[in-house]
Amino acid sequence: MLDPQQPLSLPDLQAMKTRGQKIAALTAYDASFARAMDRAGVDLILVGDSLGMVVQGHETTLPVTLEQMVYHATCVKRAVQRAFMVVDLPFMTYASPAQALDSAARLIRESGAQMVKLEGGRGRLEVVRALTEQSIPVCAHLGLLPQSIHRLGGYRVQGRDERTAQMLLEDAILLQENGAALLVLECVPASLAREISLTLAIPTIGIGAGPECDGQVLVSYDMLGLTPHCPKFCRNFLAASTGIANALESYVRAVREREFPSAEHCF
Ligand code: KIV
Repeated sequence: MLDPQQPLSLPDLQAMKTRGQKIAALTAYDASFARAMDRAGVDLILVGDSLGMVVQGHETTLPVTLEQMVYHATCVKRAVQRAFMVVDLPFMTYASPAQALDSAARLIRESGAQMVKLEGGRGRLEVVRALTEQSIPVCAHLGLLPQSIHRLGGYRVQGRDERTAQMLLEDAILLQENGAALLVLECVPASLAREISLTLAIPTIGIGAGPECDGQVLVSYDMLGLTPHCPKFCRNFLAASTGIANALESYVRAVREREFPSAEHCF
C-alpha cells in the first residue's frame, strides 16, 4: 500500500494500476477546493480547462488561455501536498511540437504541473513524442473531446459503432507507443473503455466511461451539484453528505470500493 502522507508520483499511479487499486481523480481550479480534495485522499487533481465553463461561465472550453491555466494551476499547487497534479493544455496551445513544448514548459515551470493533458489521437502523436522526449509527462484524452466541439457537433458519446470504437482503440495504443503515460477516456461505452484499459499498460481514467477504467475523474462542480444539470455519468455526492469534505471523502471511497460508477452512470 502507498503511504497516505507521501506525495504521489507518476510511478505510484502506474503501480496502482498494476495492483488493481483504483485512482480517484477530481478537477480543481483554486487552493481551497484543492486542499479539501487533497485532505479527502483524492489521488490526482486535474486543473481542467473545464474551468472555462464552470468558473468563467462560457459555453465551451475554447476561450481558455494558457495564462489562465497557469494562474489556476498555481493556485491549486500551493494547496496540494499529496495528490498528483495534471494541468490541461488549452485549445490551440499545442498545434505543433514547438508550440506544445513552449506551452508545457510554462505550465511546468510557472505552476508546478507534474503532467500536461492534451486532447486527440493519431493527429497528436508528433506532439506527444516531442513532449515525452523532453521528459514532460503526457496525459492523453480520447472520446468526447471538448476542444473539438465544433467538429463533433455536440457533447455526445463517442465510439458507439464498430468502426469508431476500433479507431479509438487504435488511437489509444498509438498514444501509449508514442509516450503518453496516462489516458483520460471521456463519454465512451463502458465495454470499449474496458477493452482499452485491458489492452494498455498505462492507467486509464474514465469520465462517463464505465467502472473498468483504472481510475475515475469528475468535474468537481458537477459532483457537488453546482452545475445546473448533473450529467448522466455523474452523481451528486453532496446531496447525501454532511458537507463538502464529507462529499469528497464519499467520492474517494466510492471509487476505491468500485461502487461508483454503477450501471446507471454508464453508456
Ligand atoms: O477539463 C476537464 O475538466 C477535463 C475532464 C472532463 C476530464 O478534461
